[in-house]
Amino acid sequence: MPEHKLDTICVQGGYTPANGEPRQIPIIQSTTFKYDTSEEMGKLFDLEASGYFYTRLQNPTNDYVAAKIAEMEGGTAGMLTSSGQAANFFAMFNICECGGHIVSSSSIYGGTFNLISVTMAKMGIEATFVSPDCTEEELNAAFRENTKLVFGETIANPALTVLDIEKFAKAAHAHGVPLIVDNTFPTPVNCRPIEWGADIVTHSTTKYMDGHGTAVGGAIVDSGKFNWMEHADKYPGLCTPDESYHGITYAEKFGQGGAFITKATAQLMRDLGSIQSP
Ligand SMILES: Cc1ncc(COP(=O)(O)O)c(C=O)c1O
Repeated sequence: MPEHKLDTICVQGGYTPANGEPRQIPIIQSTTFKYDTSEEMGKLFDLEASGYFYTRLQNPTNDYVAAKIAEMEGGTAGMLTSSGQAANFFAMFNICECGGHIVSSSSIYGGTFNLISVTMAKMGIEATFVSPDCTEEELNAAFRENTKLVFGETIANPALTVLDIEKFAKAAHAHGVPLIVDNTFPTPVNCRPIEWGADIVTHSTTKYMDGHGTAVGGAIVDSGKFNWMEHADKYPGLCTPDESYHGITYAEKFGQGGAFITKATAQLMRDLGSIQSP
């Protein structure tokens, strides 16, 4: 369980204002951030210093909200996306590229089912769908050499099937891959999948997380529990140098707790966009 009660984290999490700073998370509605020299900006771009320069990559408001959601889920790092679709796509594509394979519960939101079975198939990613009520033997039989992740929804939309997170996590870990759980329906107030073995948690914040029906959005949280380096052969994107980002090896430079979200931000958000406006 987190150190503070969830009610407290809902109010206080992710943002700790200093004396004289706004009590509420300020909305920093700015696309860009000012620096005196291009050298200072260059260091940020090279990930040699931390700070803000362009909101597609990072924005203080988004970071505070992502940190709050990560704290509520009991994760080590989080990021926001423009929608739940983007969150699920980024979470999966961050570790599963052309030639990879996904094991997914068949009882998931139709948009995610299409994303995996039609759009990601066009990108050369295969999938095997299993009933959430399958036996452990049936679940284990769905894995292949090239399986990179397991996916499911805590409570599925629209079938309301409850995922046996422990069963799916056990099978995923036995095959050396992480479990990604879409926790949109319960929100971390009612269920924290990381406590049951999930490695990555996603959200369509469009639903209960927003609660007012006003803003489409998504979020990804990393538990920091999956040891990428132990399975480096499966995850070259995290464990070998990224030539598109100055040869950085994310798992080395940002460690187990930071590599996944840093790669998804520095690489996928940079190239594919889909940022949430502050
Ligand atoms: C469980 C679940 N995941 C993801 C999504 C997609 O989210 P969004 O509509 O924010 O893209 C939805 C939308 O209904 C959903 O119910």
